Amino acid sequence: MASSPVAKADTFNYTVVRQFAIMTVVWGIVGMLVGVVIAAQLLWPQLNFDIPWLTYGRLRPLHTNAVIFAFGGSALFAASYYVVQRTCQARLFAGWLAAFTFWGWQLIIVGAAVSLPLGFTSGKEYAELEWPIDILITLVWVAYAIVFFGTIVKRRVKHIYVANWFFGSYILTIAVLHIVNNIEIPWGPFKSYSAYAGVQDAMVQWWYGHNAVGFFLTTSFLGMMYYFIPKQADRPIYSYRLSIVHFWALAFTYMWAGPHHLLYTSLPDWTQSLGMVFSLILLAPSWGGMINGIMTLSGAWNKLRTDPILKFMVVSLSFYGMSTFEGSMMSIRTVNALSHYTDWTVGHVHSGALGWVAMITFGMLYYLIPRLWGRDKMYSTRLVEVHFWVATIGVVLYIASMWIAGVMQGLMWRATEADGSLVYSFVESVKSTYPFYAIRLLGGTLYLGGIVLMGYNVFKTVVGNKVVNPEIPAVVQSSTATSAHA
Ligand code: HEM
Ligand code: HEM
Repeated sequence: MASSPVAKADTFNYTVVRQFAIMTVVWGIVGMLVGVVIAAQLLWPQLNFDIPWLTYGRLRPLHTNAVIFAFGGSALFAASYYVVQRTCQARLFAGWLAAFTFWGWQLIIVGAAVSLPLGFTSGKEYAELEWPIDILITLVWVAYAIVFFGTIVKRRVKHIYVANWFFGSYILTIAVLHIVNNIEIPWGPFKSYSAYAGVQDAMVQWWYGHNAVGFFLTTSFLGMMYYFIPKQADRPIYSYRLSIVHFWALAFTYMWAGPHHLLYTSLPDWTQSLGMVFSLILLAPSWGGMINGIMTLSGAWNKLRTDPILKFMVVSLSFYGMSTFEGSMMSIRTVNALSHYTDWTVGHVHSGALGWVAMITFGMLYYLIPRLWGRDKMYSTRLVEVHFWVATIGVVLYIASMWIAGVMQGLMWRATEADGSLVYSFVESVKSTYPFYAIRLLGGTLYLGGIVLMGYNVFKTVVGNKVVNPEIPAVVQSSTATSAHA
């Protein structure tokens, strides 16, 4: 496995990367459109038109599954397949299996898009899909692991670049989480019951739920960050040593923090305290990673003035830092006593989801699309800039309105008169939230508008005829940011 010169671009399998990249945009638009619809339903409940398939309870899981697994998942397949080939200087292992992961994943998404509105659900958040789809997910995921690790094994450079460590841990962890949380007893083709009961079920579910956030929405996207930020900035990572410490500290700590979703429940007290302590510790590796990403720009800050792709990436890291700080604070019991059940949690989720996950994905796609299709740049850099500003304003409106609404709700619910009776009825808190729901809807619509612009820009780039070289994407000529980083 001796070091070798840079492999020719046509030795890489870009077909599957292209397919996943396009579907990221498509599912992003669909998932966020459903997000806007449910945001509107919270303002105007009659928008379900009395049709069961369009009720909030069915569309909400459709939204979360579409944005996390269809949009986020497709982005991660594209990123990991691209990065592992480039950094290992090897073609994807078992191309046919990689094709199977693409079609299998799309089938799963279609299965979700049909079964969730029809009302089939296992009732576990972020794991709603029923058992036949769960089995398909397992098969696709095992195939994914074989393709990814098979490529690592056949690599032509000795070093395993740090982004692959992040991708590898996400693939392994999601496999374990998915299988353990979905152990269930089928009751007919569309219904199953969890193998766990009571508080154990809750514990397993939130061990899954939290680590789904930790590994599906964080560790994996950090892998993306560690490849695409140095590339776009054309600088080496600020500290490679820190990236390794970051990896191990994050992977170790995340696993224990799940109980912060179950504070003040019947979960044993010591487990809740453990979850809280580990959530506080988690701040250190999270910020270590953020600082490592941001400092990668040292010496290249001037590029931020002119490069909207870099803007996406740096702003995403800022949101990563902000949402992890917020999460650690929300894990403190006394803070959680105020935030839990309120829209503050929803604000936290979307500062991570819109600010971090989606922004870094947009940055990656704008980097990747021209290179995958052999164009010298996106069809319109100006539209990328517009997208950046529309998305940034959208996310700020979304999260600021939810923070204010959340704190307001928490304070209203706990306000008592001198005799101990409640100052406000629940419905009064709902009524007071309406203006903030309207602002959230505006923010969400702007954000959706941004990704639609991106869809147009991607379409024009892909069908445009300004091919630089169809065989050798421009990426091959661009300089390498670290020695192991092709
Ligand atoms: C246009 C963009 C978006 C809009 C308008 C939107 C809107 C919404 C709304 C209205 C809810 C329900 C909140 C509630 O039940 O009170 C929600 C939940 C959620 N969304 Fe989004 N969303 C958007 C994008 C995203 C993205 C890109 C992600 C992930 C990558 C995401 C992940 C989630 C999650 C995980 C929840 C569940 C939150 C919880 O249970 O606390 N959303 N979204
Ligand atoms: C140090 C990192 C983080 C910590 C310690 C943390 C902590 C928390 C806490 C305490 C809650 C509220 C639990 C409750 O009251 O029900 C929460 C909810 C949530 N967080 Fe985080 N968070 C972190 C980072 C993130 C990031 C980066 C994302 C997204 C990319 C994210 C996504 C979510 C989601 C989706 C929920 C809602 C779960 C649900 O109830 O459905 N978190 N987090």
